[in-house]
Parts: sequence; C-alpha cells; structure tokens
Amino acid sequence: MRRHEQIAPLLELLAASPGQPWALHLLGPGGIGKTMLMRYLASDLFAEENAMPPFAVARVDFDHISPDYPVDRPVQLLTELADDVIWNASADVSERQLRAFFASAESVNAATVDSPLSLDHPLVTTTVSLFAEYLSMLPAPQVLVLDTCEELAKLHPVGSEVPAVTRTFELLHDLWDKCRTIRVVFAGRRYLASSGAGWGLPRQVTQQAVVSLAERKYLRLVQLKGFAAADAEKLLSKPHPVTRAATAPPTSAVRPAHRNLAGTTRS
Ligand SMILES: Nc1ncnc2c1ncn2[C@@H]1O[C@H](COP(=O)(O)OP(=O)(O)O)[C@@H](O)[C@H]1O
Ligand SMILES: [Mg+2]
Repeated sequence: MRRHEQIAPLLELLAASPGQPWALHLLGPGGIGKTMLMRYLASDLFAEENAMPPFAVARVDFDHISPDYPVDRPVQLLTELADDVIWNASADVSERQLRAFFASAESVNAATVDSPLSLDHPLVTTTVSLFAEYLSMLPAPQVLVLDTCEELAKLHPVGSEVPAVTRTFELLHDLWDKCRTIRVVFAGRRYLASSGAGWGLPRQVTQQAVVSLAERKYLRLVQLKGFAAADAEKLLSKPHPVTRAATAPPTSAVRPAHRNLAGTTRS
C-alpha cells in the first residue's frame, strides 16, 4: 500500500535545491514500515509512479555491516553502496571510474590491516573522491539509503556519543562536499542528532533513544506513524494474499489497539 504521507517528504528531499537540507532521517519504531518504504524508494517504481526522471539509488542496511566498520574498514560503507548502485544505462566511462574506486578502496583495506586509517588519510580521501566522481556521472539526485541505523550503536553504552555514527556522518559529509547532488536517507529507531533542519530533541526523550548529540543542520527529521485508520481498515479487509479468502472487517477489539499505535490519528 502506498502511504502518501511517507512518500511526500522523500519527494521534497529529491527535489531540494542547493542550500536546502540534503539528508532526511525517517524515525520510527520497529515494524512501522521503514524498510518497506526504503525498498520502494530504491525500486524503479518510485520514479515511475511519482512522475520523476530515473535517478541513481543505492541502499544498504546496517543489519549487514558491522558497527566496527569505521575502524576496521573505513570505506566499507562506500563499497557496499557502490555494489548496490543500480544503473545499467550508463557508458564505459562510469565503469572505468567504478573500477578505479574499487582499486582505491582495496588499498585502504590493505593499509588498515596494519593500523586504522583516519578519515583524512590521503588513501581514504582519494577513495572518497573517486566514489564522488563516479556518483557525479550518474543521473542526479544520487540517492543513498541507509537503513536500520540503530545497529551502528549496537556495541555502545547508552548515553554517550557513538563513534560509528559520528564517523558515518563525517564520511557522508565528505562525500557530499565532493558531489553536491547526493541525497541521503537514514531510517532507524533512534535520533541521530540533537538538532537538525527545523527540529530539536523533544524534552521527554530518553538517553537510550539518542545516539548522537551533534547538530546536523543539513538533516531533516520525519517521524513515521502507524497507518491512518482508513488505510488500516482497507489493508485489514483485503482478501488473504495467498488463499484469497475474504477477511472479516476489524473488530471492536482491534480498533482501540490501532488507535494507540497510530498516535495522533483517530478513526
Ligand atoms: N506500506 C505498507 N503496506 C503494507 N504493508 C506494510 C507497509 N509497510 C509495512 N508493512 C508491513 O509491516 C511489516 C513491517 O514493515 P518494515 O518495513 O519491515 O518495518 P520497519 O523497517 O520499520 O521495522 C512489513 O513486513 C509489512 O508486512
Ligand atoms: Mg526495518
């Protein structure tokens, strides 16, 4: 089911002009539909259904990247994104550029075996530049999707700055500096900053819900809510996807539970 209240902020991000926020955080509890939305954004259908020219997009999930990556493999996020960039139409030029990037990333990995490399190490900055050059050759906006961001804080005690989060933002900021048409979408359960473009931490928020106290002016925040009552009823009343059996409409027992989940939405 397409949820227009969730799609609208994505369309705004993709249409943002220079000087406007280039990153968006979709915040919401598990099961609210973040991954579903990110998959849609990363599919051809997104451009098609929203009357947009095709754009380049890559998606990674921190479920599959170790939270130690910034120390052990400082450019792993970029190589995972590069692996996922789906763009078939471009010419050999970008193929060659991509190979140059992967070769450079390989030398970063080789050097890291001896000792960790900082983000301003020449090998790392060269690799970031090569990836930025590659992205610049693809149709803008080049959208980078980072799902399950709370996993970055997995190994970290509550209430302190999480280095993996800090480094990830530094890396993406360096990349944006070299390719200003990128757009980054984060999805996750926890706040990734103390303030951003037009938002700040709510007063009652717990330490557990925050993984960084940095200010990130380029980051918008949108909280995902449960289904609106009408959408929920529509979804619950659909026939079973496999058996096609008709489903009874939601009972009086389901409605109060849904009202709690949907937050502000009332039926
Ligand atoms: N837009 C949607 N339409 C229909 N079902 C959805 C939608 N979004 C989420 N769901 C259902 O909710 C489940 C959990 O969604 P998911 O995207 O994995 O949540 P999250 O990533 O926020 O934990 C999905 O497996 C799917 O069954
Ligand atoms: Mg998810």
